[in-house]
Amino acid sequence: MKRLLFVCLGNICRSPAAEGVARHLAKTLKTPVFVDSAGTGGWHAGDPPHATMRKVALHSGFPIDDLQARQVQAQDFQNFDWIVAMDRQNLADLRDLQSQYGGKAELSLLLDHAEVGVKDVPDPYYGGEEGFHHSFSLIHQGVLGFFSKNQIR
Ligand code: 4NP
Repeated sequence: MKRLLFVCLGNICRSPAAEGVARHLAKTLKTPVFVDSAGTGGWHAGDPPHATMRKVALHSGFPIDDLQARQVQAQDFQNFDWIVAMDRQNLADLRDLQSQYGGKAELSLLLDHAEVGVKDVPDPYYGGEEGFHHSFSLIHQGVLGFFSKNQIR
């Protein structure tokens, strides 16, 4: 089974939303792909996703209440086939970590898999609810693009 990890900074807003969308897609398409998410930072380890992102994701049909934040670890670069970053800073941080740890994981930027005209999923953490909707919409498009590009169906 292929293994897919989504990564943002805190693992409470963007990457859990991506995980929720991907899990739902994998289930709907009956695709044998293992999906997880993590943060480059560990401040929120053990926490559930941000309440506003839980609400926005659920509203779109993707419940993520049961997810728990964790930090990226060395074994992730070996254990996952794909590691998909939410923004270019996350990707740069992941490249640094992979240069230390090694590992076969193929790193990419989520929005490189979709035609949305922007590269980064904005971090909605410090803004209002509108920002969560905007980021969720970009994430949804990115994950759909990733699945079709990688022939996960
Ligand atoms: P995320 O958002 O990377 O989308 O999960 C953030 C959540 C928390 C923090 C930063 C970003 N923080 O600094 O605590």
